Amino acid sequence: MIDQFGRTIDYMRISITDKCNLRCQYCMPGNIIQKEEENYLSYDEMIRVCNIASQLGIRTFKITGGEPFFRKGSISFMKELKALPETKEVTLTTNGILLKRNLEELCAAELDAINISLDTLDAQFYKTITGNCQADLLDVVNSIIELRKRGQRIKINTVILEHTLEEVESLIQFAEQYGIDLRFIEIMPVGAGADYKLVKSSELLEKIKEQHKSLRPYQKKIGNGPARYCEADDIKCKIGIIDAVSNCFCGSCSRIRLTSKGELKPCLAYKEGVDLKSLLKAGISDKELKEIMRETIYKKPKAHNFHHGQVYETRNMNQIGG
Ligand code: GTP
Ligand code: 5AD
Ligand code: SF4
Repeated sequence: MIDQFGRTIDYMRISITDKCNLRCQYCMPGNIIQKEEENYLSYDEMIRVCNIASQLGIRTFKITGGEPFFRKGSISFMKELKALPETKEVTLTTNGILLKRNLEELCAAELDAINISLDTLDAQFYKTITGNCQADLLDVVNSIIELRKRGQRIKINTVILEHTLEEVESLIQFAEQYGIDLRFIEIMPVGAGADYKLVKSSELLEKIKEQHKSLRPYQKKIGNGPARYCEADDIKCKIGIIDAVSNCFCGSCSRIRLTSKGELKPCLAYKEGVDLKSLLKAGISDKELKEIMRETIYKKPKAHNFHHGQVYETRNMNQIGG
């Protein structure tokens, strides 16, 4: 459907859990205690919401968390979503730690694409940034390689930290060795991310250009997200940039969000949303639900205000789904 600013909204990010097995410092820092799941929207309720969303023209679904594999039954849910008659694509964003034990079932689910977070290839720094001394970088790296061997469409997500400037070349070498597109993401001042120093995409691109002089914009579209891509004669993969802070892309935003607690959230950057869970519990009809969803999507805010230092969403990313 078209929102009040003329944008086509056809993509929903569904956070199926706010729990995670990592404690990435910019997302869900170490002191967060995870509670039981009774407040979550059930998978059946999510399917009902997605069915109505598809009637409103939303046909692409991205599964996020917290960490999606942390919720039982996540792959069955993705399969069910993919089987809906109107669904165009179902994709997943994961931290990769639990891929190893879910690999067979996941590949059988035939998702359209999988994004995996990989902020560093330094095993020690990985433990620091993920706040989890049990987390093994090798599990993630090996699963990435295995998925690639099996022909799965994957992309790597790297949040740009000060450390990234030192490591950018090894990350590129790893990605190109396996023919995987690599995206660098500016840290957004949402939740714990607000305490971080922004390293701008321009600084990172300059760094890459020092080694790869032919780096230039790549014109074709990859995936369904806000990343813009670059290519270079001497890099075998594409380099994506997601720079919401220094290069606001809200004018072409196509998405809304459903949180694990059942809130329909029209924009990442604002705390406002509609509590669909309560409406579902109160026995709302499909017709009424559709109208509320239509109105919420229609009123989606024009843009974030990150570049003016204004932060309206103080919840952490794990509660929103990125
Ligand atoms: P695909 O390219 O289709 O895989 O989607 P994607 O890049 O949007 O997915 P992913 O879940 O990997 O998100 C990558 C980064 O983009 C995360 O840091 C998200 O928080 C950020 N992001 C995704 N959608 C939006 C958006 O609408 N607005 C902003 N500001 N950031 C977004
Ligand atoms: N800014 C930008 N990206 C973030 N992510 C988590 N928190 C932030 C933030 N504050 C990223 C994760 C993951 C994706 C879903 O969102 O690293 O790749
Ligand atoms: Fe869309 Fe809001 Fe993200 Fe801007 S900040 S791209 S409007 S979700």
